[in-house]
Amino acid sequence: MSDMDLDVHRSGTDITEALRADVREGLRAKRKWLPAKWFYDARGSALFERITELPEYYPTRAEREILRGHAAGIADITAAHTLVELGSGSSEKTRLLLDALGAHGTLRTFVPLDVSESALAEAARAIAKEHPALAVHGVVGDFTEHLDLLPGERPRLVAFLGGTIGNFLPLDRAKFLRSVREVLDPGEWLLLGTDLVKERETLERAYDDREGVTAEFNRNVLAVINERLGADFDPGAFEHVSYWDAGNEWIEMRLRARKPMKVRVPGAGIEVEFAEGEYIRTEISVKFRQEGVRAELAEAGFRLDRWWTDEEGRFGVSLSCATDGAGGMIE
Ligand code: AVJ
Repeated sequence: MSDMDLDVHRSGTDITEALRADVREGLRAKRKWLPAKWFYDARGSALFERITELPEYYPTRAEREILRGHAAGIADITAAHTLVELGSGSSEKTRLLLDALGAHGTLRTFVPLDVSESALAEAARAIAKEHPALAVHGVVGDFTEHLDLLPGERPRLVAFLGGTIGNFLPLDRAKFLRSVREVLDPGEWLLLGTDLVKERETLERAYDDREGVTAEFNRNVLAVINERLGADFDPGAFEHVSYWDAGNEWIEMRLRARKPMKVRVPGAGIEVEFAEGEYIRTEISVKFRQEGVRAELAEAGFRLDRWWTDEEGRFGVSLSCATDGAGGMIE
């Protein structure tokens, strides 16, 4: 028997409640927006898995190349007893880390945390089977809320991969890094994946593939709102847009109304009007530079110890150690 359990910090009603609040805030704003986490129901998670295999979407491959080259080094440096993976999804790249930490001989516990119960349960089960000696403690939750509950023997290595930190706005990002620092003791570790600034064309294409998978993924947020809040969005009436905002150094995904519309969202108690061409910002994906990452980590109480990129310099992975300094001082 493999050792695995799943801790659910979010029930169906919690999720609907949180979505209702986000929809009321975001769709009543002057410039409409929605948080990116709402893409990931079972269908959205499956669409994202397809995105990671698209020729245009390089981050997954670039990060995998880095982890292949450096997982053993990461195991040596950290000698972690626990691997915590935030936003783990299918945990595919995690296997590289688990194998390396397993070979190193220190690893006892794996804690994957994700909002998607379907993606998490499947991955946790598969990994528990592949690593019979490993305790797998899955946590269904939101890593912006449920970080205080991280179990596992120290030292722990928290991995936040894929460039998902880019989904936070700058202030939320700083707050998030501090909250990670807060749950760690000095000497524990953060492994962070960050997509890097590059030319517009490459970036915009990575978020607007020829097959239209990313467009479907983007529209899926409307299907999620239809399903959970009884809304009557017509996803096909919204055009998928990928836009590189060079000033903010982030990619924006948008859904642009092809015609004027009035949409009812009974579960949120609102009606939303769209003018033709008006859009919802559905995701930002910030692109980074090494010096910026180092400075933000330092500000949160981490010392960047290692920085690796793929051969083409498209993606960065940093390994940082929690310091005695600024960490944990949230007013
Ligand atoms: C999973 C958040 C890293 O921002 O690149 C992929 C999500 N959105 N294509 C990203 C995403 C559109 C992805 N992250």
